Amino acid sequence: MSRLDSFIRRLEAQRRMLDWAAAESAGRPGLVLELGLGNGRTYDHLREILPGRDIHVFERDVSPNPHSMPPAGRLVIGDMAETLPAFALRHGRGAALIHVDVTTGVPERDRVLFAWLPEHVAGLAAPDALVLSGWDLDHPALTPVALPEGVPAGRYYAYRRVG
Ligand SMILES: C[S@@+](CC[C@H](N)C(=O)[O-])C[C@H]1O[C@@H](n2cnc3c(N)ncnc32)[C@H](O)[C@@H]1O
Repeated sequence: MSRLDSFIRRLEAQRRMLDWAAAESAGRPGLVLELGLGNGRTYDHLREILPGRDIHVFERDVSPNPHSMPPAGRLVIGDMAETLPAFALRHGRGAALIHVDVTTGVPERDRVLFAWLPEHVAGLAAPDALVLSGWDLDHPALTPVALPEGVPAGRYYAYRRVG
């Protein structure tokens, strides 16, 4: 499969995952966290499908499409290795939905480069929170859950925070 095909499939899976997560999160109070603003595409989709939800976005190098800039007070700028634990001190385990879109595009590299991330994600997730990620997160408090129909295993990952 060409990298273009692979990229398109990843984006299709991402949209399916976000739509599914929005439906799953309806009626569950809590923050929505977007880890990795980038161009702002998935943030833009999240705010469209989750109107009225409090969405906080984390990014080190802020340069999204101007139409996808989060409002003041909802963008946390800096290295997530530092901003996530600081956010947890203020908000505790207050997130109902966390989308991890921090990736180099190479899952094997991500697991090493972002080995510190699953602990911070688990530390922000409310009991039963849904966590989505483009690569597999290894943490004892994050239990894998079945993917929505149409998303092949290994293309995206979903977890629930236990306890
Ligand atoms: C794949 S992009 C996000 C794409 C975005 N969700 C979209 O749909 O346009 C990953 C983003 O994570 C950011 N990032 C990577 N490591 C980071 C870190 N340690 N702290 C903060 N941001 C980081 C990068 O700057 C990049 O913009």
